[in-house]
Amino acid sequence: MIIAVDGPTASGKGTIAKALAAHFGLPHLDTGLLYRAVGRQVFLDGGDPDDGGDALAATSFPDSLLDDPHLRTEETGGLASRVSVHPAVRQALYERQRTFAMQDGGAVLDGRDIGTVIAPEAEVKLFVTASVEARGKRRFSEMRERGLDVRLTDIEADLARRDARDMNRSDAPLKPAADALIFDTTSFDRKEAIEAAIEAVEEHARRAS
Ligand code: DC
Repeated sequence: MIIAVDGPTASGKGTIAKALAAHFGLPHLDTGLLYRAVGRQVFLDGGDPDDGGDALAATSFPDSLLDDPHLRTEETGGLASRVSVHPAVRQALYERQRTFAMQDGGAVLDGRDIGTVIAPEAEVKLFVTASVEARGKRRFSEMRERGLDVRLTDIEADLARRDARDMNRSDAPLKPAADALIFDTTSFDRKEAIEAAIEAVEEHARRAS
């Protein structure tokens, strides 16, 4: 079974994808990490993330970069969003994601275009979303817990900027697949969101059998 989990930043899609993978015993790929690695590599190269050539060159990042803790920062998230608008970057990362999705036994992938581009044949597609306010508060608490001095209004503005860029790019924009289940986590806590997602996948499997 292939499970595609798409959605905007801080919607809870990563948490849900990880929990689904553990519950159904499937391997999981966080595809955002690949774009983050490209964004980080451009930075390390001293390149320009808005330049298609610099961004494409950075797609040959070493695998060891995927373990770099800098990939998790908001700065790198912003760079990832910028390099991800270039079609050549998306193409360069396609095969790796596609191979992961098509492995025997299935997989869970989370990102922006899994249900629409990477694995349109996925048996289950969840589009995880939540209001900017709810996502901003979650990101704010996470960052405060990590001891970072951040302001909620700045985080909300940053999320809105990234949403706009991810949704308005011409190649593989962030949007639900026609057959995706829209999963709004605004009023869910983490545990409720995970339970509801597992239930949705099980329900789907029951209907399909
Ligand atoms: O999910 P994330 O926040 O780690 O993703 C970082 C950026 O990478 C996101 O703003 C857009 C890009 N991205 C993408 O374009 N396609 C994906 N499948 C995953 C991420």
